Amino acid sequence: MATLKYSFLLSSYLLFILVLFFLKKGYALDTAAIESHYHTVQISSLLPDSVCSSTSTTKGSKKRQSTLEVIHQHGPCSQLAQNNPTTTPSLNEILSNDQSRVDSIQARIKPDSNTNNIKNTNSNTNNLNNKKANLPIQSGRSLGSGNYIVSIGLGTPRKTLSLIFDTGSDLTWTQCQPCVKSCYQQEDPIFSPSTSTSYSNVSCNSAQCSQLSDATGNDPGCATTTCVYAIQYGDQSFSVGFFSKDKLTITATDVFPNFLFGCGQDNQGLFGKTAGLLGLGRNPLSIVSQTAQKYNKHFSYCLPSTSSQTGHLTLGRNGISRNVKFTPFSTSQGTSFYFIDIVSVSVGGRQLPIGRSVFKTAGGIIDSGTVITRLPPLAYIAMRAVFKKLMAKYPTAPAYSILDTCYDLSGYKTVTIPTISFTFGGNVRVDLDPSGILVVVNGSRVCLAFVANGDPSDVAIFGNTQQKTLEVVYDVAGGKLGFGHGGC
Ligand SMILES: *[C@@H]1O[C@H](CO)[C@@H](O)[C@H](O)[C@H]1NC(C)=O
Ligand SMILES: *[C@@H]1O[C@H](CO)[C@@H](O)[C@H](O)[C@H]1NC(C)=O
Repeated sequence: MATLKYSFLLSSYLLFILVLFFLKKGYALDTAAIESHYHTVQISSLLPDSVCSSTSTTKGSKKRQSTLEVIHQHGPCSQLAQNNPTTTPSLNEILSNDQSRVDSIQARIKPDSNTNNIKNTNSNTNNLNNKKANLPIQSGRSLGSGNYIVSIGLGTPRKTLSLIFDTGSDLTWTQCQPCVKSCYQQEDPIFSPSTSTSYSNVSCNSAQCSQLSDATGNDPGCATTTCVYAIQYGDQSFSVGFFSKDKLTITATDVFPNFLFGCGQDNQGLFGKTAGLLGLGRNPLSIVSQTAQKYNKHFSYCLPSTSSQTGHLTLGRNGISRNVKFTPFSTSQGTSFYFIDIVSVSVGGRQLPIGRSVFKTAGGIIDSGTVITRLPPLAYIAMRAVFKKLMAKYPTAPAYSILDTCYDLSGYKTVTIPTISFTFGGNVRVDLDPSGILVVVNGSRVCLAFVANGDPSDVAIFGNTQQKTLEVVYDVAGGKLGFGHGGC
């Protein structure tokens, strides 16, 4: 009897201890969870250093195959920016160019509302002069200028070219000698087809020439027997020239003999000192499609947290870490863009109180060339309200360009900001890096790095500021997009 009573007491005591333990553990978990809804950030860590530190190269690129270093066009890691402070656009210019890019993306996705019929205005392309005159100014692809660049090799012998990489366009092009009409100033020597033994023109009556209509939005022209392409990017940026083939060298072992590209004879616009553009869209003429046999339409990249660091662009399935989670691409709606489903957004751990239809109505894309993420108006208003509440202790500052929620943080070395996370289809949650939450104009003006779309039916765009430091994996053949943390 006594032992029974004793063991009853003992087990009650154990139970009590256990309950205490769980209560304590639960409490501890709660505080941890609350803490993890904020980032403590040094303002200086969001600003680029004046010198380049390629830390991510050793972390990401060096051990991977088929990998190119990704550099911000205007940062200290870019040779294109060196000695050329005049060609470096201000943040204000970058943000207003960003709006032009977004406007042109919306126009491409909603073609019925776009009154410019590009195909008809450019069907007669017998000479390059007329071609230029006919280019519509407003519609078409817009470049923006917050762009990242990679270097590839073209021709035999191989010449190195620094190109803007752009998931929002398809045709790869570079400026070409003899620059029949005009070339802007670029850093690399301008590609010279006559000195490349592997170069050839694409003829007007080839199937490849007719693919240009979809890839550029303009019907091809014909100069004697050579196919002529024309592509415009809004902001009066454009490239027009011969449609060509030559050997593309990604790395020493990754060589593509008959790569189709534009050999630009008339080029103008916001290309900085780059040699042109690398198109990573989903169209058959993009580099993704043209290298499908080797890389199976698989590529990934990481954009560094500041422009004084480097990231990487990897073609093929190399070195994808296990922490990457995949969301399915949604239907492409016949464009070159990569559509994804945004399901919800949380600020400081609180899911924004908006209906699922807000994101469903508009749909969403991921874009490497849009700087600031665009949200449906209701989503942005809800985000801003929660963000302001959680930032209430900091003094506010006037709006800057397209950014309307700014703080004067000049009195602070470190600040505590709410976390922001996106949930994509398939329940893939992505926590943004602090560099994807704030844009630092200067210490006395630090702004929330999001903008509302003008119309609820405009597509949401997950832009490159928000992609910083993430490993972003495009498995185009597999129909899915992956996100991992700590990509560079
Ligand atoms: C390519 O076509 C252009 C225009 O017809 C011509 O001027 C050029 O010489 C051609 N290049 C080659 C290598 O055939
Ligand atoms: C910060 O930037 C704003 C906007 O360009 C400007 O008005 C202000 O004078 C700047 N402040 C400092 C301390 O540079």
